[in-house]
Amino acid sequence: MTTTTAPMEERGISCSLENYLVLPDRSMDERIAAARRALGDRLVILGHHYQRDEVIRFADLRGDSYKLAQEAARTKAEYIVFCGVHFMAESADILGHAGQQVILPDLNAGCSMADMAEIGQVESCWDQMVTAGLTDQKGHGITPLTYMNSTAAIKAFCGERGGLVCTSSNAPAAFKWALERNEKILFLPDQHLGRNTAFRMGIPLDQCVVWDPFMMMGGTTPERLREARVILWKGHCSVHQRFLPEHVDKVRAKYPGIKVIVHPECRWEVCQKADGIGSTEGLIKIIRESPAGTKFAVGTEIHLVNRMGKEFTKEDKMVITLDDSGCLCTTMFRISPQHLCWALENLVEGNVVNRIQVPDEVKRWSRVALDRMLEVK
Ligand code: 13P
Ligand code: SF4
Repeated sequence: MTTTTAPMEERGISCSLENYLVLPDRSMDERIAAARRALGDRLVILGHHYQRDEVIRFADLRGDSYKLAQEAARTKAEYIVFCGVHFMAESADILGHAGQQVILPDLNAGCSMADMAEIGQVESCWDQMVTAGLTDQKGHGITPLTYMNSTAAIKAFCGERGGLVCTSSNAPAAFKWALERNEKILFLPDQHLGRNTAFRMGIPLDQCVVWDPFMMMGGTTPERLREARVILWKGHCSVHQRFLPEHVDKVRAKYPGIKVIVHPECRWEVCQKADGIGSTEGLIKIIRESPAGTKFAVGTEIHLVNRMGKEFTKEDKMVITLDDSGCLCTTMFRISPQHLCWALENLVEGNVVNRIQVPDEVKRWSRVALDRMLEVK
């Protein structure tokens, strides 16, 4: 078995990423394992459930966004290597301790939904709400609430105005917290999670209004905004938006008795038809706790669905995707074993590559918003 104790040059290895990307996946396992051993408890690898098998198998902890944020706040490791997407690594940096460094193995692993709310657009939206007399600048009138899937700047925006962050697993609790402070919520950036949560909390659809950042006055009117309780930013997840109500009907016709369970980033019409809704961790729990013989069609990212399909056959449970065309999160997929190996072997050499560092002025208020999230039960 190879060890990584000798410097990379002596082992004929170059630190440059290009040299890793041409190597086959199977040649990475032993090297990743060796680099991990060399780093010992100075390193923790966090992995989101959508990561591919070749990567997630190296995670010390796998979970949904909420669980990973909790772990990032808890761990004492010097290096947090985040196998997930950019906003998750940013949140780990915000919640981490002084001296810790967060690494994202591929900086291109972003999230298209997070990119749908740009800070300048959100500030302009807020200014228009202030002008319409719906809130003051500090958030007396509207509580801004952002989904974890947003940039650190948006999280800071919410923290500074009396708001908070939520994930798909604690969105109802965050809504309750927000509505105890104000009558209205501005929910960023996922309209579907916002609508699904509002409806679940008993807020009718006609009290939700969509704000389109590319239209004058968000494509709505001050009167409509005054009537609404929840203002939904017009963002979505391109992966989950592909699941349609027809898919639910089709799978039920093909497999009578099958349970349909979906992520709350799916459209309201899909969630309404489903038998269960949950975060990635929540979906796994539903399947784990079901009796043997249960069949599931799951509306979420394909790597997680396929993994559950394999793991739960042992318990005589069938798990298939809700949409045959398979919904892949292409940005999560960017984290490859080659990127992971490159990041770890560089750490062994004392080189920190792809560090995610949130600027201090953004960190202050985004930390407030994330701490509020971790306190909300
Ligand atoms: P979870 O918090 O449910 O893991 O969701 C994160 C995500 O990005 C889903 O698209
Ligand atoms: Fe973003 Fe959707 Fe990918 Fe989740 S599945 S990381 S929301 S693009």
